[in-house]
Amino acid sequence: MDTDPRETVRRGYDALSHRYDEAFGTDTKYGPWIADLLDRLPETAEVLGLGCGTGVPVARDLAAAGHRVRGVDISGVQIERARALVPAAEFVRAGAAALDLPEHALDAVVCLYALIHLPLAEQPALLGRIGRWLRPGGLLLVTTGHRAWTGTDPDWLGGGVPMRWSHGDAAHYREWITAAGLVVQDEEFVPEGRSDTPCSAPAAPDRAPGAGVVHRTGPAWRNRWGRSTLEVGAVPRPTPGSGAHAAG
Ligand SMILES: C[S@@+](CC[C@H](N)C(=O)[O-])C[C@H]1O[C@@H](n2cnc3c(N)ncnc32)[C@H](O)[C@@H]1O
Repeated sequence: MDTDPRETVRRGYDALSHRYDEAFGTDTKYGPWIADLLDRLPETAEVLGLGCGTGVPVARDLAAAGHRVRGVDISGVQIERARALVPAAEFVRAGAAALDLPEHALDAVVCLYALIHLPLAEQPALLGRIGRWLRPGGLLLVTTGHRAWTGTDPDWLGGGVPMRWSHGDAAHYREWITAAGLVVQDEEFVPEGRSDTPCSAPAAPDRAPGAGVVHRTGPAWRNRWGRSTLEVGAVPRPTPGSGAHAAG
């Protein structure tokens, strides 16, 4: 077992990139989430896919809609596949914690099922940096934890390699996202072990008009560990003439 949990994660995705796709219906998943995001983005948006995987479907669909998409992932195999599968986007192999971008460079950050692989202690700081990278009115779409849990599956997806997760509960993510300067617009519980749910369930997330985050939470991987929450956070737009930020 690696002493650095990030190495366990990187090796796991290097080994099981294809198996992950087979298990989670990569081509069709996240349909309503992507449609919702496309509705909210400006005409030509700068989007970062953080822990982007193979770029399918998020980078693929956003790039096809004319947005400038960059994807970052710690796994070399995921990045290699992303470059082949989504030539219209740019992909870089890097760990999220090492990523440094200029302030206000992005219209949206999409981080689905990736933040929960980082060591928990690094997650609030990363959310803080995301808050700085986003422009006023920018969006964060992120899956977080629902109940706190840290642990390893020694035989992930039956593929003979370990995988590691670490996450706090939904209330902590709400605090960290808010501390990052984002307004939580939507929260939604996403049942684990039903990663197809967002694709097959057309229901739009509950959303307060003019607010800023979707937050979906779910019980657990294989219905054992309470884990996924999807949140959409928006950076408030400045109120004209005030110089201060207000909910947009
Ligand atoms: C469950 S997959 C999700 C991939 C994609 N976001 C999706 O939803 O299809 C998680 C991805 O996060 C990446 N990842 C995990 N830890 C990371 C880190 N510290 N920095 C960058 N990428 C990371 C993994 O390599 C993997 O490709």
